[in-house]
Amino acid sequence: MTASKAKEFGRSDKLKNYVSASVLSADMLELKNEIKRLETSGIDMLHFDVMDGIFVDNITFGLPVLKQVRAATDMTLDVHLMITDPLRYIDCFADFGADIISFHIESESDTLAAIKAIKAKGIKAAVAIRPATPIGAVYEFLPYVDMILVMTVEPGFGGQSFIPETLDKVRAVREKITQLGLDVDVEVDGGINSDTAGAVKAAGANVLVSGSYLFGAEDMKAAADAIREGEPC
Ligand code: DX5
Ligand code: ZN
Repeated sequence: MTASKAKEFGRSDKLKNYVSASVLSADMLELKNEIKRLETSGIDMLHFDVMDGIFVDNITFGLPVLKQVRAATDMTLDVHLMITDPLRYIDCFADFGADIISFHIESESDTLAAIKAIKAKGIKAAVAIRPATPIGAVYEFLPYVDMILVMTVEPGFGGQSFIPETLDKVRAVREKITQLGLDVDVEVDGGINSDTAGAVKAAGANVLVSGSYLFGAEDMKAAADAIREGEPC
């Protein structure tokens, strides 16, 4: 792991809130400056959405871009794989600089094998789950992961509206984690802004991904603080 800030994230500081900015909404031709903007705005992590056009209906960016992002920043790189066979690419994404890798339980890879492959690289492992998949599907993997990523929109595109029904899933997985006495972060991704952040935090999420809201804000630091610190409505 090359990112020093990665050490600050996770187990030792349970339920501390983190903001992870999705660069899917960044100006790609200005990516270096956009990363500087994240750093100076006190954003905790950089969320890197990888889509293969098969697992989801969109294609984004991959390994060569991650490598350049890694060279440009010490931020914690939170890689979200929306690809059909994540196991095949885990070593590469880890070698190219990921600090956290999330992959989908609905993918074709064996879930436990993928978790083990991520952990074997010495980085944090997370299982992601689509809105329509029952949250109980991730319970058996809780003892092995650092984080669960609950999708709060259908994966594939930034700028969608938060799906309120996903709150029950956040609440249920947080309760299960507490019940099992585990120290697992719960990340939410999709439609997170100053209006929705309070509710997801109240339900038990502590890592908040945000793309269009943060990059569209005139004052990114104020926007990030609003979702990290703001109280439930
Ligand atoms: C959607 C991606 C999200 C997305 C979030 O499939 O996984 O990370 O970029 O964007 P907003 O915050 O605009 O919903
Ligand atoms: Zn994402």
